Amino acid sequence: MSFSAAPTPAFAYFDNAATTPLDSEVLEAMLPFLTQHHGNPSSLHGPGRQVRAAIENARKTVAHLINAAPAEISFTSGGTEADNYAAFGSIRTLGLKHAITSKLEHHAVLHPLQALATGGEIELHYLKHDAQGKFDLGHLAELLAAQPRAFVSLMHANNEIGNLNDIAAIGALCARHDAVFHTDTVQTMGHYRHDVQQLKTHFLVGSAHKFHGPKGVGFLYTRSGTRVSPLIYGGAQERNVRSGTENVYGIVGLAKALEIAIRDLAAHQAHVQALKTRFIEKLRAEVDDVRFNGLSEHADQSLYTVLSVSLPPSPITEMLLFNLDIGKVAASGGSACSSGAQAGSHVLEALGADPERGTVRFSMSKMNTAAEVDYAVEQLAKLYRPVAA
Ligand SMILES: Cc1ncc(COP(=O)(O)O)c(C=O)c1O
Repeated sequence: MSFSAAPTPAFAYFDNAATTPLDSEVLEAMLPFLTQHHGNPSSLHGPGRQVRAAIENARKTVAHLINAAPAEISFTSGGTEADNYAAFGSIRTLGLKHAITSKLEHHAVLHPLQALATGGEIELHYLKHDAQGKFDLGHLAELLAAQPRAFVSLMHANNEIGNLNDIAAIGALCARHDAVFHTDTVQTMGHYRHDVQQLKTHFLVGSAHKFHGPKGVGFLYTRSGTRVSPLIYGGAQERNVRSGTENVYGIVGLAKALEIAIRDLAAHQAHVQALKTRFIEKLRAEVDDVRFNGLSEHADQSLYTVLSVSLPPSPITEMLLFNLDIGKVAASGGSACSSGAQAGSHVLEALGADPERGTVRFSMSKMNTAAEVDYAVEQLAKLYRPVAA
């Protein structure tokens, strides 16, 4: 299978964990809801009903793709809102007093939980992990035994280092201790199959722009029977939990993007995994003392879309991303900031990574090519070659 080239060919775009280019099939599905179907989905007349039907069809599509019921899907403004909604909505409604999470979670999870802890509503417990970011499930069992009926939030895959976590095992442990389990699936939705009948999770989330859909739209899956209170009050949309006129074209685009992602998943995975393997091999050949953060280099334990590269100490470290940008390579990075002088990565810091080493996260999609990988490696390697006297 071949894929259309990235829409900005002047750049080798390797920041797909931040956001992915919109798929042209998705744009096509969205356009009628920008140009023709303008009714408010809450209106009872024909144009309103037509748009309502599109939203409900999108809900059915998303539900079907993760083996849920349509009533278990609520559309949101993205992953951040869905994570906030799960944390605030369930902890307050269910009166939970303890939450268990990890220091490797996205801020969309950490900050709401820390806000609840600072406000005295919960006690927050951090799960131990090793230097590669692998969770200690023995410690999770201990925490759950000491704090039954806790809110547990542990991500499916880490957005910075790519570690994949065993959410089936975590869910089973949570179920044994009557915990409420939320997993941030923003980086895996559309890249792996999720079956909520198999997973013992109360919540999972998706964000369309991570799988070639539009920005500013996502969804929360809430297991039937799990009570949550609204985050936004008003016109009672989304079954009264998330008021506000719906982002109709966004919702239509999200469902289409997820449908395409799941339809083509095997081909995409093979294509992107081959790019990642090529990246690793070329970097090893071209850059001395290159390493990989977390479990990033292990195909079976990390996202096939993310490669977190650790580079040797160098005067270039602080200007690494800037120099790549000049070289027309779009990537992201971070460092384990020890001095507090620069904006560091809380994930690398939690891993105890050497703050002298630079990190570049290359994140790939179906739209990248092998030639782009070779180009990006060459641009990076150039920065680490000794300058001739
Ligand atoms: C793991 C994870 N959770 C949550 C989010 C937030 O998603 P959104 O950008 O849709 O708010 C991101 C985005 O980078 C993410 O990677």
